[in-house]
Amino acid sequence: MRIVLHDTAEAARAFAVARIAATLAAKPDAVLGLATGGTMEPVYEGLIAAHRDGLSFARATTFNLDEYVGLAGDHPQSYRTYMRHHLFDHVDIAAARTHIPRGDIDPAEAAAAFEAALAASGPVDLQLLGLGHNGHIGFNEPSSSLASRTREKTLTRSTREANARFFGAGETPPHSAVTMGIGTILESRAILVLAVGAAKAGAVRGMVEGPVTARCPASALQMHPDVTVALDAGAAAELE
Ligand code: F6R
Repeated sequence: MRIVLHDTAEAARAFAVARIAATLAAKPDAVLGLATGGTMEPVYEGLIAAHRDGLSFARATTFNLDEYVGLAGDHPQSYRTYMRHHLFDHVDIAAARTHIPRGDIDPAEAAAAFEAALAASGPVDLQLLGLGHNGHIGFNEPSSSLASRTREKTLTRSTREANARFFGAGETPPHSAVTMGIGTILESRAILVLAVGAAKAGAVRGMVEGPVTARCPASALQMHPDVTVALDAGAAAELE
């Protein structure tokens, strides 16, 4: 693992933007693995700015990590809506080149369709990952098999509480998601993890310093030969 420490969250995010933009500039038909969540919002802002400066997404293909079970793509809280709002509607990528597991069909069917699309267009050249407070990547919660494929995964109470902020009062965050598996993620050619803020420091320590265990799914990334981890001072605070 290559750990890149930045003083500020802004600098860590700028590093992530530059890495994704460089991947696309070097390989315009790159396959990008994308994530959602609060950490990624400024990253997508940076990519939209890079697009305005000439970076094209027209030949790229994207695969998102996960989608809530029970939400159709046009639901306001779906990750398809998130991606349209934060990136896709602002860059030159055709919807047909963007792949996100479907939340509105049988989860096993959605997972199989996603894996088939990935097999047809992959492997992912650069997979962007955020990090859950509990060490999850995608929605691979603690106890996920380190060899798992895309499938339905029940969300832990702590993840549902963390994500409740994105839902309105009276709305219940879904209980499960279809997520790319850890084994699926590890097939990416390169992986870029972005974690900022002291709340992620414990998960960062588990991911980087191990042990490799299903109790901290991100620790499985230690087994991948090309992982870069961009951190701010807060997220790096518990590293030895
Ligand atoms: C979402 C995803 C999750 C998030 C993680 C961190 O697609 O894959 O693993 O990256 O929950 O979320 P934030 O950035 O909101 O702290």
